[in-house]
Amino acid sequence: MTEPELIELAKKAAKNAYAPYSHHTVGAALLCKNGKVFLGCNIENAAYSPTNCAERTAFFKAVSEGEREFSAIAVVGGYELDFKDYFAPCGVCRQVMAEFCDMSTFKVILGKNGGEFKTFTLEEILPFGFSPQNLKDRTEKDA
Ligand code: THU
Repeated sequence: MTEPELIELAKKAAKNAYAPYSHHTVGAALLCKNGKVFLGCNIENAAYSPTNCAERTAFFKAVSEGEREFSAIAVVGGYELDFKDYFAPCGVCRQVMAEFCDMSTFKVILGKNGGEFKTFTLEEILPFGFSPQNLKDRTEKDA
């Protein structure tokens, strides 16, 4: 799966965004190491805080279907499906990525109109992050 192909899937996912409050539609396409792709969109709520971002929708769909190994996620977002700027994952979504993905190899691909894209490692967008590695010593002692 190429980066432009994954971005196209993220654009398709954004069409299902439920964003009646912000009107910012976001789509994500999460590539598993086994080649499967899970799509996600943002799902807003009248109470605001229950809103779920596109990235987390994709991750939670995948994990709930038994997937744990991921290689990349493509993300697009913007006002009413106009992806004129890069729409970077929020801090909470970066933290969810850190739970399941290798910091130095997992790729975060940001797409926008006109076929432009930028690719980062998770480590680049979440430097000095907190991950399951930080609980490793404790986990080993407990085992
Ligand atoms: N949003 C995402 O889906 N992903 C992000 O990483 C940033 C924000 C959504 C949440 C909300 O529905 C809308 O974008 C505006 O914040």
